[in-house]
Amino acid sequence: MEEYFKAVKITEKVYWVGAIDWSVRNFHGYETGRGSTYNAFLVLDEKITLIDTVKAPFVPEMLARIRSVIGDVTKVDYVVSNHAEPDHSGGLPATVAAVKPEKVFASAIGHKTLMAYYGDLGVIPVKNGEAINLGRSNLAFVETKMLHWPDSMVSYLDTEKVLFSQDAFGMHLAGSGRFGEDYPQFVLDYEARKYFANILNHLSPKVLDLLDALPGLNLDIQIVAPDHGPVWRRPEDIAWIINLYRECALQAPRAHAVVAFASMWHSTERLAEALSDGIRAAGVEVKLMDLQVNDRSAVMTEVANSGLMAFGAPTMNNQMFPAMADTLCYVKGLRPKNKLGFAFGSYGWSGEGGKQIKAVLDEIGAEQPQELFQVKYMPTSEDLKKIHEIGESLGRSLLDRVK
Ligand code: FEO
Repeated sequence: MEEYFKAVKITEKVYWVGAIDWSVRNFHGYETGRGSTYNAFLVLDEKITLIDTVKAPFVPEMLARIRSVIGDVTKVDYVVSNHAEPDHSGGLPATVAAVKPEKVFASAIGHKTLMAYYGDLGVIPVKNGEAINLGRSNLAFVETKMLHWPDSMVSYLDTEKVLFSQDAFGMHLAGSGRFGEDYPQFVLDYEARKYFANILNHLSPKVLDLLDALPGLNLDIQIVAPDHGPVWRRPEDIAWIINLYRECALQAPRAHAVVAFASMWHSTERLAEALSDGIRAAGVEVKLMDLQVNDRSAVMTEVANSGLMAFGAPTMNNQMFPAMADTLCYVKGLRPKNKLGFAFGSYGWSGEGGKQIKAVLDEIGAEQPQELFQVKYMPTSEDLKKIHEIGESLGRSLLDRVK
């Protein structure tokens, strides 16, 4: 039944044999509105090599794509696991059972991680910088610890000049096109930034280390093949994604602001609207996000692309409103840097919510030039005027920062 799944040629010796997950909308808490792909690649040489596998339910699709190239999946000699997270390794046990490879390779930490997940699959650990010979070509391994997990490594195929980069330089984007040029640039730009913000933002120093180390590796990279989303094969696309990673990792403040709020009876909502209008009046582009209709990963995407983040919520049962607690827990873990922050909200009698929001902004290290602003029950006209002025002041402070 799966035989209509075909491989896609990347180079004369490299084929895409992954899977398209059109329907995934929640990737460990990250809202994947455009779905995703789990990319796997088949290298044709004397030793036929499969690089990465797919999420477990997609193994039949991947095996069918492999069959479309080599007929019999047992012709695969080697399997390489660049990354042990289950969106790539979940299909490894079934793949090993079907393919019966001569050897399975992973990094030293990958070896231990795969053992913990699946038991003994006969994985051979490789060293950082080690290469294996596939016949005419060599496949070299470079550890990229914490990009995205401690086990992560990338592989470089010398004859085809392909860097198999696992999570790095990827994005969650389902589609029938396999290459960057198949998609509109605005889609690529949004999804790449969203992916970085939600998967890699807290690892920005490691990303910069990798980008700084890349030239010294002396790899002639003509194709970058990540494990999610499009393959980059045009020089301008490779330059674009590398520059975007550097920009995102540097986290320099930008003249954008995000105002995220939760509201029970529209009091905090009215404050958020007045605040946003004040920021806009100062000349700063602002995005107003109601947590009823914007999930945590959409908010984090805007936080990463902003120089000012404001969070507002009411107090409920002596706590900040739960939707705000969820979002702030997530944002804090992704460690945004170089931001201005502002906390606001409404309350009826105890008022802990706003203080808790401010405390999280303190933990994040956000500079807060304005005090916590809270109103009792419903904002008055004076309150709205005051928070509008606060917005204008915050907007001006941000513009001073990005000059
Ligand atoms: Fe696509 Fe870190 O897994």
